[in-house]
Parts: sequence; structure tokens; C-alpha cells
Amino acid sequence: MENFDDFEKKSYQEGVEIKYGFADYFSYFSKMFIFFVKITFVMTQEIFEKIFYGTKVKNIHGQLALVTGGANGLGRATSFRLAQEGCNVIIVDINEEEAIRTAAAISERYGVKTKAYKVDVSNFDAFQELKQNISRDFDGQTIDILINNAGILSAISLNEGQHTQIQKVIDVNLTSHFWSVRTFLQDMIDKKRGHIVGIASMGAKVSFPLAISYCATKSGLDGFYRALQDELCVEDHDEYIKLTCVYPSFINTRKELTDILDQMEGVGPRMSPSYVANEIVEAIKKEKISLVLPLSAWLLLVSNFLTPKAMKLAKVQWVPVKRLKKKD
Ligand SMILES: NC(=O)c1ccc[n+]([C@@H]2O[C@H](COP(=O)([O-])OP(=O)(O)OC[C@H]3O[C@@H](n4cnc5c(N)ncnc54)[C@H](O)[C@@H]3O)[C@@H](O)[C@H]2O)c1
Repeated sequence: MENFDDFEKKSYQEGVEIKYGFADYFSYFSKMFIFFVKITFVMTQEIFEKIFYGTKVKNIHGQLALVTGGANGLGRATSFRLAQEGCNVIIVDINEEEAIRTAAAISERYGVKTKAYKVDVSNFDAFQELKQNISRDFDGQTIDILINNAGILSAISLNEGQHTQIQKVIDVNLTSHFWSVRTFLQDMIDKKRGHIVGIASMGAKVSFPLAISYCATKSGLDGFYRALQDELCVEDHDEYIKLTCVYPSFINTRKELTDILDQMEGVGPRMSPSYVANEIVEAIKKEKISLVLPLSAWLLLVSNFLTPKAMKLAKVQWVPVKRLKKKD
């Protein structure tokens, strides 16, 4: 493991220069070719298995799910949908009052066990305390399904507001995923069962203006879940620990957001939280690694290949950012 503390004292040693000849390149590319043949074989096998045996659907009835930011919006809708599947649901939110209300409403409707905890997801120690409290309140049970949903929908650019607000967006939207996964993953590995969902955003794949911190954190999640998947594969945990990273475009959640979206005709139709929640739970059951919502949002990726002037036209005129800025 790298020691990060002594960089200021470390003397720099230059890397050794290597000269590559034709034989080196030939050996490299022939190994690469064999590797691609193997990959194609495995992929073909997987595709045929899907065609002949269909997609396996996981039963999550009776599992213990934890939803961060579960008091409101998408988290609330996902908590309800998980309860509908027969999951017991833990609502984790900074807003205790709403969290308690949501937990009570879920229990009343579906008769499952629920509990609300007030936790600031950006605080690592708070997660450690949460883990102990869950163990106490749920007779030593551990988390089966972790939904990392809490996030701040910030529309602040680099020089707006206080620098501490930018830091907060990073801590809540990105760092919190490190803390929650670090807290609950080992139990999943020990139990050989678990599913982790990260709620990113289409902002991870296609940036939009005046939301630098938001887009950066959501792109960070994209990298986080890809790298986590790789680690699970390296350690051979991928057979029983599943990941799903979700990239929704706009959802009708809180009014502050929908008021802004109302002015942006270019962003297209918005999804309802219950629709997105249903897609998330179906993705868990079908063990999908990534989920772009709606499916048509893939088309937005075209914007990443536009020439600079066309990109400016798309991002500044189609989404009327200047108008929004004046209104603020
Ligand atoms: N609404 C959209 O259009 C949209 C689109 C793409 C992605 N998303 C993502 O979906 C997730 C949910 O968004 P939403 O629209 O439901 O938002 P929301 O504001 O309605 O709900 C977020 C919840 O997170 C909680 N929360 C905020 N900071 C917290 C903290 N430090 N600790 C614990 N809880 C905290 C809030 O109290 C709230 O209950 C977010 O990660 C968001 O980035 C939303």
C-alpha cells in the first residue's frame, strides 16, 4: 500500500527508459489478438445463454435494504418499491422528520419492517455508528441491498457561492459512496450476498453548464462503480456481489428542481420517481451493471462527438442556460 504522507520528503527518481523493437510490438499485438479471440468467445457464450435460457431474475423477498436519501424524491420511491418486493427497508437521511414519516408510511402499506436513521452520508464515522445501530435494531442482521442515492442537485458553477458549498457537493455526491461501501461491503462478502446501487446521473456521461461540481461528482461515480466492479472481479466476489450504476436524466422530484426544469424545454420529457424506482428494482433483480434512463438518453452521447461550435449551440441554445442565470 502506498504511503501518501511523506511526499514532501521523497526524492524524485526518474523512470527507466526502455527501447522497444519490432519483436516487442509483434509479441504485444499477438498476445492482444489472442486475448480478443478469448473475449469474443466468452461474449458469444453469454449471448447464447441469454437467448436460450433467458435472463435470470433474482428474488429479493425478505432481504434487508438500506436507502440513503430515502426520505424524499427518488430514494423514497425506491424504498416503497423495494418494500413492495418484500424487503425490509432502512431509510437513511439527514432529514429525520421526513425519514421517519416515509418509514412509517412504508410499514403501513406493505407490512415490512422499516426504520429511519438520521445520518449525514458525508461523514464516515456516522456510517460506522449506523452499522452498529442497525446490528442492534435488526438482531445482528447485515445489509443485503445498499442504495447509494443521497445527492445534492446543485446548480452552482465554479465561482458562485462559497467554496465550502462545492466541497459539500463533492462530499455528499461522491465521497459518501466510498464511506458507505467501505462500511457495508465486507459483511456482504462474508455472507456471500449483496447488491450495491449507485445513483449517478446522465450528467456523468454528458456534461451540462452551470453544474460543474454536480457533473464532476457524477462522473466520479461512473469511475467509482467501474473500478469497484473490477475489484470484485479480481477478488472473485463478482459471482455474489452485484453492482448497478444508474444514469437517469431528469426526474420530477422536488419543486425547486421542477421549477428550473419547467424553463428548459430542450431537456425533454421528465420521468416520474416511481417509474425510475421500478426500473432500478427490476435492474437489481436482473443484475444489470448499468442502467441509463430513459433508454433514449443514450442518444445524448452523440453530443460528446460534436465539433466545438456545434457543441456550444447544443449546450447553450438548446438548454437555455443564460436565461436561467439571469432569473437567479
Ligand atoms: N431529480 C433528478 O432529475 C435527478 C436526475 C439524475 C440523478 N438524480 C440523482 O438522484 C438522487 C436523488 O435525487 P432526488 O431528485 O430524489 O433528490 P431529493 O433532493 O428529492 O432527495 C435527496 C435526499 O437526500 C437527502 N440528503 C441530502 N443530503 C444528505 C446528506 N448529507 N446525508 C443524508 N441524506 C442527505 C435529502 O434530505 C433528500 O431526502 C441524487 O443522487 C440525484 O443526484 C436526480
